[in-house]
Amino acid sequence: MANKAKLAFIGAGKMVTAIVSSLLRSQFFQADQIICCSANDGTSEKLAEATKIHRSGSPDEVLDFNPDLLVLGCKPQQISTLSSDLGSRKVESLVLSIMAGIPLDRLSSTFPDAPNIIRSMPNTPGQIGAGITGYVFANPPLSSDKLLVSDVLSSLGPALELKSEDDIDRVTAVSGSGPAYLFEFTCALEEAAKEIGLSHDLAHQFAIHTITGSAKLISESVLHPKELRNQVTSPNGTTQAALESFSSSALRKTVYKAVKAAHERSIELSNA
Ligand SMILES: NC(=O)c1ccc[n+]([C@@H]2O[C@H](COP(=O)([O-])OP(=O)(O)OC[C@H]3O[C@@H](n4cnc5c(N)ncnc54)[C@H](OP(=O)(O)O)[C@@H]3O)[C@@H](O)[C@H]2O)c1
Repeated sequence: MANKAKLAFIGAGKMVTAIVSSLLRSQFFQADQIICCSANDGTSEKLAEATKIHRSGSPDEVLDFNPDLLVLGCKPQQISTLSSDLGSRKVESLVLSIMAGIPLDRLSSTFPDAPNIIRSMPNTPGQIGAGITGYVFANPPLSSDKLLVSDVLSSLGPALELKSEDDIDRVTAVSGSGPAYLFEFTCALEEAAKEIGLSHDLAHQFAIHTITGSAKLISESVLHPKELRNQVTSPNGTTQAALESFSSSALRKTVYKAVKAAHERSIELSNA
């Protein structure tokens, strides 16, 4: 069902472009309900031209639009200049941050007049509508606020409300950094394919299509990945030989160590 709220975006880069394009595609929101701004006019001009949304020259002018939701889609390091960019303007709308590593207490002190603040962690597949986002409210939300935030974030893929802000650091380690784990595994598979004698081009194509096809199968099958794995593992076959090598090289322990390292780093960055 169409949502009548007005949305303002600070930033007009990759993530904001993905959100705005998906919102318009889904027809939840119309172009005249949305405004954006960027640091350099070029980026927001490009987005406004492509999508017909409004644009403004600066974050404080964006507030003249009287948005119901202000989305912070700039880089985390830009939070420090936002207060001065907004000057003496009060932000009295909901504020939704998609910035990595900026905790709710920092956002609350930057936007003391906002009725509620939402911290979210999307991931890069959101750029093609195949992401997953975790989010948390600073204060218990009104049901209309819950609906608005869910409508906006689910444009990137499933959007799941988390019980505590600590879960944001956990989600960061799993889904935020997770795409890079798969990209790295794809590179490793491609390298191994070359090592055993496939040409550069064949190694690339077979590695990429194996990963994308398997990911699609996981998402479309009713079976758990464990069962899908068992289906391709015949006793004493080629897959079993490879999986035994994974076990002896402690792949699961390696993945656990990687996720734990990302989790600890996320906590450090949030506290910096
Ligand atoms: N990319 C992802 O998949 C992903 C995943 C999770 C979280 N995030 C978070 O999403 C946010 C945006 O990431 P991105 O990849 O979309 O970055 P991006 O493509 O670099 O876009 C950042 C945008 O912010 C604008 N901006 C910077 N300073 C500003 C200011 N003071 N006022 C107004 N606009 C300003 C930039 O303007 P100019 O273009 O004019 O410089 C640009 O349009 C980041 O905080 C990141 O942590 C991204």
